[in-house]
Amino acid sequence: PNEPPMVFHWFPFIGSTVTYGMDPPRFFKENRDKFGDTFTFILLGKKTTVAVGPAGNDFILNGKLKDVNAEEIYTVLTTPVFGKDVVYDCPNAKLMEQKKFMKIALTTEAFRSYVPIISGEVQSYFKKNADFKPKTGIIDIPKKMAEITIFTASHALQGSAVRSRFDETLAALYHDLDMGFTPINFMLHWAPLPWNRKRDYAQRTVASIYMDIIKDRRANGDDHEEHDMMKHLMNSTYKNGTPVPDHEVAHMMIALLMAGQHSSSSTSSWIMLRLAQNPEIMEELLQEQIRVLGADLPPLQYEDLAKLPLNQAIIKETLRIHAPIHSIMRAVKQPMPVPGTKYVIPPSHVLLAAPGVSASDPQYFPNPDAWDPHRWEADSPNAPSIVRNGAVEEEEKIDYGYGLVSKGAGSPYLPFGAGRHRCIGEQFANVQLQTIVAETVRAFKFSNVDGSRNLIGTDYASLFSRPLEPAKIRYERRD
Ligand code: HEM
Repeated sequence: PNEPPMVFHWFPFIGSTVTYGMDPPRFFKENRDKFGDTFTFILLGKKTTVAVGPAGNDFILNGKLKDVNAEEIYTVLTTPVFGKDVVYDCPNAKLMEQKKFMKIALTTEAFRSYVPIISGEVQSYFKKNADFKPKTGIIDIPKKMAEITIFTASHALQGSAVRSRFDETLAALYHDLDMGFTPINFMLHWAPLPWNRKRDYAQRTVASIYMDIIKDRRANGDDHEEHDMMKHLMNSTYKNGTPVPDHEVAHMMIALLMAGQHSSSSTSSWIMLRLAQNPEIMEELLQEQIRVLGADLPPLQYEDLAKLPLNQAIIKETLRIHAPIHSIMRAVKQPMPVPGTKYVIPPSHVLLAAPGVSASDPQYFPNPDAWDPHRWEADSPNAPSIVRNGAVEEEEKIDYGYGLVSKGAGSPYLPFGAGRHRCIGEQFANVQLQTIVAETVRAFKFSNVDGSRNLIGTDYASLFSRPLEPAKIRYERRD
């Protein structure tokens, strides 16, 4: 009684797992048309209640700690990959402190030092990678973006000592860690299967590599020029006076790289595919840099990024349509009445938030299926209500223990989530992506291989949605 309507299915355990898994956005849209913003379906035997729209996002993402729980859902996947005592393998209050340490490390001074590091990595990648040697060629873009993401993120966040190990051992180990990070492991995380053995070996090995580096840095003193995350976490102390132990620093380093890797690399791949689909926008981006920074295109600085609104809008618009996280889950701990409805969600259910639904709803974003970076300008015919109605209204902020964050209540656009589990990597991702895009448009023209305006489909089979592979585009070097 009072439970939301159930999506029809033929088989008890399987339920809607297959139709949901093949295309989650379509599944949400079809059932929302049928049932409204709140409905339940069976996902691997579990009653899973979806609540969409700004009110649904708020209901789930700003749910109280006594009502909703993230770690119960995610720990089976994340703990074997990250390691013990961090993120979802500890009480929420400890995660909030860990997020505070991570967030404090990402200062303006740190970002200022990251831009030249990221620029340098991108330039040297384009120079050294054999596939980019010819004047023009065809490349599988997600493969390239995965490498560029891990080189730039590891160098900026983990320091030059870690970065230098990525060319040999670390890349292969992270690949094995990654194999543990798939939806099938929601069920098979414990099984002594080949990929899980590799995952466990890789976790131990990566953690001990980090711990050796930490010991070495403690013993020999640090390079004062480096503003990396590892250095900051090494010197952080919990509220109860305990310094963060080395194994937790190591495990947080793995967690940060994994969290950032998939989302940023998928986003940069989509950006490059959208630029190949819209070559005139790529020209506009170069012209914007020439106009603002000068025709000689000097080395990029952190301060330059804020002066390039189209370069920023590219990322905003790509995250609107291609948010890498399509489903956010929470276990229900107490009966939860859904505001404005007669429904009550019982504790046996899982809640699922999908902010992508409101981000592609014509009610908030005119012409929602069009990838139009100019819609983020107030006078665009496609400008969303949140931009047209006098920019951002006074946003409600809240402190969950890791600094003030926007509650996002009522916002139809939440690619970085909201509430206590909100992303702390948003600014880093923006700096990383803006720098990668700015360097790429300086170096290349992109187009679709067949000269069309087509776009490849989305692969929802892994935890993070990303382009189906291979996703090939044609490049032409500008030099
Ligand atoms: C949490 C998106 C990049 C670290 C989240 C959440 C979302 C998200 C939606 C909320 C998850 C939930 O509520 O269950 C993104 C997107 C990114 C990105 C779209 C890039 C385009 C990064 C980067 C880092 C990072 C680069 C690290 C430097 C984290 C952390 C959390 C988080 C630590 C907190 C998890 C929690 O509290 O449960 N991110 N993220 N993210 N993200 Fe990101």
